[in-house]
Amino acid sequence: MDSRIKTVVSGITPSGNMLHIGNYFGAIKPHLELQNEVEYAYYFIADLHALTTVKDKAVLENNIKNVILDYLALGLDPEKVVFFRQSQVESHSELAVILANYISYGQMQRMHAFKDKLQDGEVVENINMGLFNYPILMAADILLYKPYGVPVGEDQRQHIELARDIAENFNRIYNTEFFPLPIPMIDKKKEISKVVGTDGVRKMSKSLGNVIGIFDDEEVIRKQIMSCFTDPTRIKATDPGKVEGNPVFIFHDLLNDNLEEVQDLKDRYTKGEVGDVEVKEKLSNAHLRFFKDARAKRIILERDMELVMSILMNGKEKATNKSKETIDNIKEIIGLSTSI
Ligand code: ADP
Ligand code: TRP
Repeated sequence: MDSRIKTVVSGITPSGNMLHIGNYFGAIKPHLELQNEVEYAYYFIADLHALTTVKDKAVLENNIKNVILDYLALGLDPEKVVFFRQSQVESHSELAVILANYISYGQMQRMHAFKDKLQDGEVVENINMGLFNYPILMAADILLYKPYGVPVGEDQRQHIELARDIAENFNRIYNTEFFPLPIPMIDKKKEISKVVGTDGVRKMSKSLGNVIGIFDDEEVIRKQIMSCFTDPTRIKATDPGKVEGNPVFIFHDLLNDNLEEVQDLKDRYTKGEVGDVEVKEKLSNAHLRFFKDARAKRIILERDMELVMSILMNGKEKATNKSKETIDNIKEIIGLSTSI
């Protein structure tokens, strides 16, 4: 990793109750690696973003708590990372209001989240403005910390490009280099930047119901794995099967630390000498081994919510200080800093 990297920023939206392995490999794992390599890492729970879809108070509160616990259990180190809730750092909302003035309505209409809804047949009357404005709030989340880059999965690329466009517009209008242009830090391997779902077709996503969880009950995870698509052209276990692009083997490559076992399964699968059940059972076991420590840590953490809260309070304070400084500078540049 480039030793000059100073700051990275990223967020996870608590729109669902638990993280899945797509979130882990596409976002969380790179976040955890970066925490040891950069000078400043700002990672937050994008709870304001969750409001675009979650309108039930108890559900939202529960999602937020779970995602926080998941993140910490997976290895986020609060000594190295400024870890906080977006809604508790007011500059995020304030900068979003300001930045909306530096991007056109036309460009916003081309953003995927909005466009996909229209294409799915949703009428504009039913699309809330939070969803339409989502990328502007995300640009504010990012630009507040003036980062070098933003580690995310492939699906977030367009949002980071918008943040760059907003930053460029702002810099041009005020003839300044105030905002560095953030780089999308997305893994080059598509098996990682866009982990396929158990349907073997679309990206793994909580809204598509094609996920393999991380912290769900063992039985739930086993069922998710058992429901995985494999090689659709293979009818009997004695038919030779295809390994490449087969989701079960993509997951083996990601999760199974027993490389000999994986190679043996691949060899036998290609020759038609192993059934799907054995391949999936070994995958379930590999999953449990892979996340064993994190699962144990999560149970301990959940018993100590005071510690978790103090981590978030600390993050809130640090993020508030840093982001307030940026907002003050922006107000100075645009003409909102005088006291008259
Ligand atoms: P979801 O699509 O399940 O709602 P989020 O939008 O909350 O997931 O994504 C949180 C982070 O995880 C983002 O950085 C996103 O790019 C990444 N991510 C989500 N799904 C995947 C996936 N299938 N493969 C790789 N990264 C993913
Ligand atoms: N939109 C991101 C997601 O759904 C979450 C997010 C919000 C984010 N603000 C961010 C990610 C800023 C990176 C930087 O996954």
